Amino acid sequence: MSSTKNSPNQHVEDMLVFETLRKVKRLRLLEPSLGVVGFFLVLAFTICFFFYLDFRELDGKFGLSGQFKRLTWSTEQEHSRVEFLDEKCDGCDLFEGNWVWDEKYPLYESKDCKFLDLGFRCSENGRLDLFYTKWRWQPKDCNLPRFNATMMLEKLRNKRLVFAGDSIGRNQWESLLCMLSSEVPNKESIYEVNGSPITKHKGFLVFKFKDYNCTIEYYRAPFLVLQSRPPTGTTKKIRTTLKLDQMDWNSFKWKDADVLILNTGHWWNNDKTIKWGCYFQEGKEVKLDLKVEDAYKKSMETILNWIQDTINPSKTQVFFRTYAPVHFRGGDWKKGGNCHLETLPELGSSLVPKDNWSQFKIANSALTAQTNNTSQFLKYKVLNVTRMTAQRKDGHSSIYYLGPNANPTHHQDCSHWCLPGVPDTWNELLYAFFLKHETSR
Ligand SMILES: *[C@@H]1O[C@H](CO)[C@@H](O)[C@H](O)[C@H]1NC(C)=O
Ligand SMILES: *[C@@H]1O[C@H](CO)[C@@H](O)[C@H](O)[C@H]1NC(C)=O
Ligand SMILES: *[C@@H]1O[C@H](CO)[C@@H](O)[C@H](O)[C@H]1NC(C)=O
Ligand SMILES: *[C@@H]1O[C@H](CO)[C@@H](O)[C@H](O)[C@H]1NC(C)=O
Ligand SMILES: *[C@@H]1O[C@H](CO)[C@@H](O)[C@H](O)[C@H]1NC(C)=O
Ligand SMILES: *[C@@H]1O[C@H](CO)[C@@H](O)[C@H](O)[C@H]1NC(C)=O
Repeated sequence: MSSTKNSPNQHVEDMLVFETLRKVKRLRLLEPSLGVVGFFLVLAFTICFFFYLDFRELDGKFGLSGQFKRLTWSTEQEHSRVEFLDEKCDGCDLFEGNWVWDEKYPLYESKDCKFLDLGFRCSENGRLDLFYTKWRWQPKDCNLPRFNATMMLEKLRNKRLVFAGDSIGRNQWESLLCMLSSEVPNKESIYEVNGSPITKHKGFLVFKFKDYNCTIEYYRAPFLVLQSRPPTGTTKKIRTTLKLDQMDWNSFKWKDADVLILNTGHWWNNDKTIKWGCYFQEGKEVKLDLKVEDAYKKSMETILNWIQDTINPSKTQVFFRTYAPVHFRGGDWKKGGNCHLETLPELGSSLVPKDNWSQFKIANSALTAQTNNTSQFLKYKVLNVTRMTAQRKDGHSSIYYLGPNANPTHHQDCSHWCLPGVPDTWNELLYAFFLKHETSR
């Protein structure tokens, strides 16, 4: 628990370092003459002096130096964290930890990655602050391996890595394409096997890394279960149905992947289903009165049972990524909800909004029910990113999905994420599990 208590201090320290760096950078931009340098030296001295006085006063009042000592102590503790890939590190929870400032981030620049939707290219679309690209996830009890694209590609040689899910899954897929391609000198050696452009939204896309004979694939399946025509003879208002007991028709392509990352959640609401005449079906029966929450629960059971029944765990490593929280302030996206002024994460876990997202709760109870059942071997891992992601209200595309002429009166996107950005972290966690799995073979 001590790390939770320390995190606001950590935050303060990080921000101080950051502010100083920023000032230094600004000074450099001025190309100063000697006179200007002199002036700034005096100014800096004055500021430091006042800061010192200020600090002493604060110290007197709140015993800050004691807290700084504790900070140092906690930094020392960091050195004793085990490496996640060590054999010793067994029960470490990667999803409990803190966001820490790291100048070595981001892992790539969007302008160097041709595999990104325009809507995720925030800095190219005019977002000026780049703070959101600088946070690294630090688990409490262990260290993550630093992402190494070459290493991952070598381990993926002759293999298929498949994402299936909604557009947040696509967000994560594009992030991984950028992370992996950053270390491939010949970008022409990476291509979509059917020549489809990245902007195409329906169906699926398969990118091949020729030198490694591996593919990184994305299947659009926002519900993961099958959406198709209703049974004949049903009323007109039913345009399509979600078959809660059947997997998406592309699932036969997912089941033999070497790595499979599933997600679903954002589409399980009335606006994206019943409002459009999309009702729920079990067997041959359309259940007009079934609530969307109950339908989601049933579909989760179908998905998890499908994994347990059809996946060959010695071939396929499966992940289920949990709900990625949205951060609309002052209404949903239709009602002018916004997030364009957010430039910093909420680093104290107590500040995280109450996790009352029904989509998280429903999926989580289905997942824990399976985990609780000790009589079965679980064939999947949970990428439990919800809490860590809840802290990242600063990471959304907001108005920057629109291109350079965006202004805050537009509908804002506070669900998807700027890239580079938060989904890179989900992929670093994926990388850690993947490497551990590969080395344990
Ligand atoms: C990344 O992995 C490759 C292949 O295993 C290795 O040769 C290289 O040194 C690694 N790079 C870093 C920065 O560790
Ligand atoms: C390339 O990878 C596929 C699996 O994705 C495999 O079936 C095929 O044999 C590989 N080709 C070569 C030349 O190794
Ligand atoms: C979650 O809680 C907040 C405040 O407690 C409330 O405003 C919001 O409507 C709730 N959201 C859901 C999805 O229940
Ligand atoms: C799983 O087990 C835990 C601890 O035994 C219990 O608190 C929780 O309610 C169970 N969850 C479900 C969904 O069965
Ligand atoms: C636990 O898993 C086994 C094997 O899949 C299954 O037969 C059993 O019904 C499950 N038990 C519960 C309580 O879900
Ligand atoms: C995911 O983490 C949250 C806390 O952040 C916890 O409440 C939840 O039970 C976890 N879910 C699973 C499936 O591990």
